[in-house]
Amino acid sequence: MKNKKIVLIYSGFERFWHWAQAGLILFLAFTGFEIHSSYSFLGFRDAIRYHNIAAYLLIVLIVFAVFWHLTTGEWRQYIPTSRNIVAQLEYYVFGIFRNAPHPTKKTALIKLNPLQKLTYFGLKVFLLPATLISGLLYMFYRHPGAGTIESLTIRSLGSIAIAHTICAFALAAFLITHLYLITTGETVTANLKAMLTGFEELEEEEGGRNSGSGRHA
Ligand code: HEM
Repeated sequence: MKNKKIVLIYSGFERFWHWAQAGLILFLAFTGFEIHSSYSFLGFRDAIRYHNIAAYLLIVLIVFAVFWHLTTGEWRQYIPTSRNIVAQLEYYVFGIFRNAPHPTKKTALIKLNPLQKLTYFGLKVFLLPATLISGLLYMFYRHPGAGTIESLTIRSLGSIAIAHTICAFALAAFLITHLYLITTGETVTANLKAMLTGFEELEEEEGGRNSGSGRHA
């Protein structure tokens, strides 16, 4: 039987970034769908005001997160790989219901399984930028400084609003799936605890793979 060790998986900044991003995206969805007229809670004007403030905060957070990922080299965690991808898919569809072992062993150096790599890559490289760009076009098309944007020959706000709303629904779908998947770690709460405390109990790999980069509690 392999030894288990408590390993630092998520640094303080990573946890702050994760929860701040989650909070801001939830708040943006909440205010955004009020702007979309799905319900009325804050009132249309305030919903727009708070949506804009949260959007600016998210942009600042993203700038810091990009800097952190580049300087720490952690961006490499998100490079998609086809290795083990079918096994991982089979695990989520069948294995998980038969108590099969996880096909990808989590280590301090490889935090994400191949499906997570692919999903987060899509989120960071396509969905979040598309949300942000459509949101900024929406914001500046409307306001006096929008002259420059009009020169991009955007005919109407309609296409921007539709693009931004599609992104919002896609993000909501991601959040729902994400909530389910965080319960599929070694135990139901293992992934959540790791993102709260930074630490997770992992099997020690041969050659001490989990003892190199992670700190032990
Ligand atoms: C930096 C990112 C974002 C920016 C700059 C941004 C900006 C905007 C702006 C300017 C509007 C229109 C407000 C108005 O009518 O004056 C809007 C609407 C909206 N936003 Fe965002 N937003 C961002 C992120 C998000 C996120 C993350 C979500 C959801 C997860 C979201 C969901 C929505 C929705 C549903 C609407 C209503 C669209 C409609 O019905 O036309 N936004 N956003």
